[in-house]
Amino acid sequence: MINRITIDQIFETARVEEVIGEFVQLKKSGSNFKGLSPFTEEKTPSFMVSPVKQIWKDFSSGKGGNVVSFLMEHEHYTYPEALRWLAKKYNIEIEETQLDDEQKKALDQRESMYVISEFARDYFHDILLNDNEGKTIGLSYFKERGYREDTIKKFQLGYSLDQWEAFTKVALDKEYKLEYLEKTGLTIVKTDKQFDRFKGRVIFPIHSMSGRVLGFGGRILSTTAKAAKYLNSPTSDIYDKSKALYGIYYAKQSIAKENNCYLVEGYTDVITLHQAGIENVVASSGTALTPDQIRLIKRLTPNITVLFDGDAAGIRASMRGIDLILEQGMNVKVLTFPDGDDPDSYAKKVSSDELYTYLKEKPKDFIRFKISILLKEAQSDPIKKADLVRDIIHSVSVIPDRIQREIYVKECASLMDVSEEVLFSNLAQQIAKASQTRGSRDFQEIKKMEVVRQQQLPKINQLEKYEREIIKILLLYGNQKADFVDWIEEEDSLGNSILTKKIYENIVADEIYLNLQEDEIAFTNTSFQKIYNTIIHLYNQKQSIDIHKLSQHEESKIAEITSHILMDDEKYKLSDWERKDIIVKPKEAHIPKLVNDVVLNLRRILIAGKIGEITKKIKDNKSEREDMEEVMNYTQLRKLLFDKLHRVV
Ligand code: CTP
Ligand code: MN
Repeated sequence: MINRITIDQIFETARVEEVIGEFVQLKKSGSNFKGLSPFTEEKTPSFMVSPVKQIWKDFSSGKGGNVVSFLMEHEHYTYPEALRWLAKKYNIEIEETQLDDEQKKALDQRESMYVISEFARDYFHDILLNDNEGKTIGLSYFKERGYREDTIKKFQLGYSLDQWEAFTKVALDKEYKLEYLEKTGLTIVKTDKQFDRFKGRVIFPIHSMSGRVLGFGGRILSTTAKAAKYLNSPTSDIYDKSKALYGIYYAKQSIAKENNCYLVEGYTDVITLHQAGIENVVASSGTALTPDQIRLIKRLTPNITVLFDGDAAGIRASMRGIDLILEQGMNVKVLTFPDGDDPDSYAKKVSSDELYTYLKEKPKDFIRFKISILLKEAQSDPIKKADLVRDIIHSVSVIPDRIQREIYVKECASLMDVSEEVLFSNLAQQIAKASQTRGSRDFQEIKKMEVVRQQQLPKINQLEKYEREIIKILLLYGNQKADFVDWIEEEDSLGNSILTKKIYENIVADEIYLNLQEDEIAFTNTSFQKIYNTIIHLYNQKQSIDIHKLSQHEESKIAEITSHILMDDEKYKLSDWERKDIIVKPKEAHIPKLVNDVVLNLRRILIAGKIGEITKKIKDNKSEREDMEEVMNYTQLRKLLFDKLHRVV
């Protein structure tokens, strides 16, 4: 782990405008910079970087944050990857926290395996481009398949000489350890000899999301050989077939930008589509997608289009696998190719315009596709048709979103000519069965959430609105003093209760803290609660709130939300960017009202919720004696709040 001091140093040194400037063309605009959003296709710039605040905001996609979150969004780095990138750029030496020996060993071991894999990649690539055998056999094979030189270089394709230990020897000569050659599977070690796993094959390096080499696929060249067409690196500490996706490194930006991912079967499909200009494509390498692979894609987009090879048997076999994708809540479309074609061969038959149109316009919604395929087979056979109905409802049953499920059931009913009631009851059965057999809490959880969501959605949204408002006030005005007003309940000479105005000076942060503390109000949004706690903690320590510190906070969620809130404030200035003198001052005089309103509103909603809860209990005849009393107290309180809200102006 990177230690605290290094992280602080990175944040202190890195300049958000310099870093973003490497990816986006920025133009100075007043005290800010602006440019075209790198996350959408836009014509007028709405992407903005503030060197003063060291944050960025993209008004067209709504994204925003600090320098690290930019790298995480744009380059899809993890947090440590982003830090390492920055450290490298600014020549900051990374100090790691102390690891114990065991951890160190594991880390060293993985690192050594990466290093050796990267050496192997360079070696195979060099052989392909510069060695005689490499050129005449390997390179000419790729050229025959229509790969251009730039494509070959981009995917770092290679060739492994047709000799027993050509590669192993070179690696050992360079003092790479046999231990790691064996662990990565590049060398197969027997008691008396050792040899190159990929001997005589062309090489496809397999990359991680961030571009490290995890392993290799090697394709045999002779068509007569009995050996497997493809040979892959064995599972190791760095390579797990079920977690890797071929091409993800080259596809990630395009997937995010297009908001869709094409899924194909093979290495060659990925490369050929790339060469034809379709870059948002990855391969599962011949097997059904695993949940880990799906999660990898889900980081980039919720939409996936599965491209099927042409044969009917293959399509049927693949359909089961798709339920897994639906289960992850992704939107799945499918696209088939004419019989006998895979994306690779089809792309070579048609012009790139035709290919583009085909990929854009032909994909079908998966459930509809499944119905159409199976319906053809089962049309005149009632028993088969019943199976088919169950099969399709099974696919629908795994979709987490209830509304989506309902829409599909309705559509299935009309397409298959079965009554909705039957389908709904079958759906309920299948969901119940799934939750039993899996013994999983998932479904129960989902169902529970659905219920909760339905009941509380408007309330939570309203609460969040005010919770966010509180954070915003704390960030913008937390350190300021203001004159607050309160209304105290007193009795007049006749014994009537009246409200008397009291004015007192307080620091905004104190005022908010005391108010919330008094009522023991907790936020419903856990991130807001966290930020609130952090702010209050900082405040209690230093008696001041440092916005800058918070927007650069190590915890990305805190940094993100803080910068969002700060940038929101900037939003209305966007149209006036050019006129740099315009600075809209906060309306100081309104601060007390701002604070009062937000606190009172928060209380009002919480109280309304309490009243609602108790009323329901009473209605359901589950109430106890005190409930009635409580509801009356709350109602009175609500009235008082209402009065206050409308008096304090
Ligand atoms: N595959 C594999 N081992 C095999 C066959 C296939 O690992 N023996 C994986 C490879 O990742 C391959 C994918 O399954 O890319 C799809 O297989 P296939 O369609 O046979 O290969 P293509 O990619 O079409 O390769 P080519 O065009 O070179 O025949
Ligand atoms: Mn294929």
